[in-house]
Amino acid sequence: MKDTYHREINYLRVSVTDRCNLRCIYCMPPEGVQWLPHEDILQLEEIEAVVKAAALIGVKKVRLTGGEPLLRRGLTDLVRNIADIPGIDDISLTTNGLLLASWARQLKESGVKRVNISLDTLQSDRYREITRNGNLDGVRQGIEASFEHGLLPVKINTVVIRGFNDDEVLAMAGLTLKRPLHIRFIELMPIGPSNSWTTGRFVPAEEIMSIINTRLGQLVPAKISAGNGPAQYYRINDAPGTIGFITSMSEHFCRSCNRLRLTASGSLRPCLYDGREVDLKTPLREGAGLNEIGDLILKAVALKPDRHHMLDGWQDRRGMSQIGG
Ligand code: 5AD
Ligand code: SF4
Repeated sequence: MKDTYHREINYLRVSVTDRCNLRCIYCMPPEGVQWLPHEDILQLEEIEAVVKAAALIGVKKVRLTGGEPLLRRGLTDLVRNIADIPGIDDISLTTNGLLLASWARQLKESGVKRVNISLDTLQSDRYREITRNGNLDGVRQGIEASFEHGLLPVKINTVVIRGFNDDEVLAMAGLTLKRPLHIRFIELMPIGPSNSWTTGRFVPAEEIMSIINTRLGQLVPAKISAGNGPAQYYRINDAPGTIGFITSMSEHFCRSCNRLRLTASGSLRPCLYDGREVDLKTPLREGAGLNEIGDLILKAVALKPDRHHMLDGWQDRRGMSQIGG
């Protein structure tokens, strides 16, 4: 399906829970956020119905996110059922990686093709600090398990934060020289409840590229086998891995946006940065059929703005864990 600006919309990001086992500094306040009550969260059958309706009008790719999606009970059943929906040809998962070592095999068997793992530092003490008490070894094991069970390509999401981990850019990028890892540097966005925290900590991708170019090796544009997102990839020489940049702030990539987001509470969000949402939960619970849900999905698609206006200010008090990362 096409939106008002002739963009092909074929990708649905599904937040399966707002809960998380971490409290990343840029995502949540120290005390955490109030979890949604159980009855406000879509049931697995309701998520399946939305994906079915979406597939009927052209969605082909689904990514499961959170919060932390591996906290959702029944996740692998959900994956299996989504994999059976005609038209869905790609299921992926975004995770903080902490529970991945115990789930990688079952995820692969149920139909997840690949994973994106969030990791902002390679130092245990820093990891504990940024995530407010996460254990880096758990993520390392999760990465290894993804390789072992073929959840490929393994992509790492790294939010670059000035004065915190910007001195690790070379170490992170250097990993791609040794292994088929795809390190994606993400520009810090001033969103969510901790948005005052982000002031002055944003590092433009261009700056990271120039550090890598002068100190590690020339970045040459590269293609990566699986990807439908906004990252631009590069490679150094014939390195097995690639280095990607997600320029959410410095250069918006809205022109090629192909996605819709389903929040854990059952609303479709046409754009991450735009507060407008279309409620699907109420109609689902009132017995709406797939065609009606499909019409509501098209309504959300029609609401997709041409581009985000994040620099004009963040309108929503919720962070990524609540909207769907
Ligand atoms: N800016 C940039 N990235 C963010 N993420 C969460 N909050 C922010 C923010 N304010 C990232 C997480 C994860 C991905 C889903 O979104 O680190 O990798
Ligand atoms: Fe960190 Fe992601 Fe959890 Fe937010 S949802 S606290 S960014 S791991």
